[in-house]
Amino acid sequence: MKKVYIETYGCQMNVSDTEVIFSILGKEGYGRTESMDEADVILANTCSVRDNAEQRIWGRIEQFNLQKRHRKGVIVGIVGCMAERLKDKLLDTGKVDLVAGPDSYRTLPALLKEITPDHPGINVLLSHEETYADITPVRTDRNGVSAFISIMRGCNNVCSYCVVPYTRGAERSRDPHSIVREACDVFQKGYREVTLLGQNVDSYLWKSEQETVNFAELLRRVAAVNPLLRVRFSTSHPKDISDEVIETMASMPNICRHIHLPVQSGSTRMLEKMRRKYSREWYLERVAKIREVMPDCGLTTDVIAGFCSETEEDHRQTLSLMEEVGFDWAFMFQYSERPGTLAARNYPDDVPPEVKTRRLNEIIELQNRKGLESYRKDLGKRLTVLVEGPSKRNPDDLCGRASNNKMCVFPAGGHQVGDYVDVIVESCTSATLICSLA
Ligand code: SAH
Ligand code: SF4
Ligand code: F3S
Repeated sequence: MKKVYIETYGCQMNVSDTEVIFSILGKEGYGRTESMDEADVILANTCSVRDNAEQRIWGRIEQFNLQKRHRKGVIVGIVGCMAERLKDKLLDTGKVDLVAGPDSYRTLPALLKEITPDHPGINVLLSHEETYADITPVRTDRNGVSAFISIMRGCNNVCSYCVVPYTRGAERSRDPHSIVREACDVFQKGYREVTLLGQNVDSYLWKSEQETVNFAELLRRVAAVNPLLRVRFSTSHPKDISDEVIETMASMPNICRHIHLPVQSGSTRMLEKMRRKYSREWYLERVAKIREVMPDCGLTTDVIAGFCSETEEDHRQTLSLMEEVGFDWAFMFQYSERPGTLAARNYPDDVPPEVKTRRLNEIIELQNRKGLESYRKDLGKRLTVLVEGPSKRNPDDLCGRASNNKMCVFPAGGHQVGDYVDVIVESCTSATLICSLA
């Protein structure tokens, strides 16, 4: 049996896609291995979102090439977003035998069969229909508690800095029945949490002759699978998150109280230039609505420092928005120009690197303080945690997330992975709640 090894980079959608690839290749007799040294096929499922993500892959290609040189017949493939963006440029290196974009994974077995040392395989066609709806992913998580379910692919927004619409193609939603079936299936296998994935889950829309299903309705259906199945989702777009979604969350206790709501910037001028289609005020109003309906809702975000023409004043607006909202956690990045995007074509990347770095550091420092404040607010609270596994620091303790997505660590007390456990928050760091059993 041939063995496949896959390294996954980038977002959760790629983690989910890697599971689809294992499933497709598994049906054709390829086994899965976690050791590159024994693999017949080495794949990297890649990300193009920032230049440093791609630089990392170039480094890995060199490592893979050593395997090719030592072991004849090993196939090296680049799949995912970087494959879609760079296409045959990857083959030109002579170090890659296979290039496959995110919508072409069904053709991987055929491509692999055709590959010879001087005949590489490539498929980078994007599709308007492919959702891999009928494919049961091979779960690669280790805990057996929490599963990703992809509910849509692609993105129809054109945020001016972002490469995703070019690498993932047009937005399409997956049949809700196949989503609910997958949720039932993982629940029966012992999973207790699903995370519904899409670039903009709020624009999920399925239309057939019989029905129209929007994201709020999909949430209700997945949450109805079983009260013991927790439902999470990512990513929400501030322009599209509706009152109906917020109220649906509040009405079903097993939909987790956490929203990842990327703001990108606190300056309306920057948001316009980024083509995010909302203003600072709109964003703050959405946050106010979420907190009015669910005062205990966790909020996390993404921020970009140093986008084209960003002034000190724009930057201060980002800091003041973060100060005002008080996110639990944030992914924070320096702007990285991506070839072919609207911003790359129309705006000079004119914030000097040292200014970007300084602004990013200010953003990180502020977030560390606000994050700690947010974790401190939970001191003394009673929370319900879904046990994910032993704590990394102390194997006698367990860890798992509360509904608001904060990581909790607590004494095992005979509890098992997959149990729901009530805890009391005793102390915290800026990323963990340290708890006792309630
Ligand atoms: N669909 C999600 C985000 C997907 S990309 C959304 O709309 O929010 C994940 C994050 O990467 C983005 O939220 C953004 O903060 C960051 N990002 C995307 N393009 C970037 C770029 N060119 N430079 C720096 N950060 C970028
Ligand atoms: Fe990129 Fe914007 Fe689409 Fe998110 S919504 S993937 S940032 S284009
Ligand atoms: Fe990266 Fe593609 Fe995801 S560019 S962030 S892997 S959609």
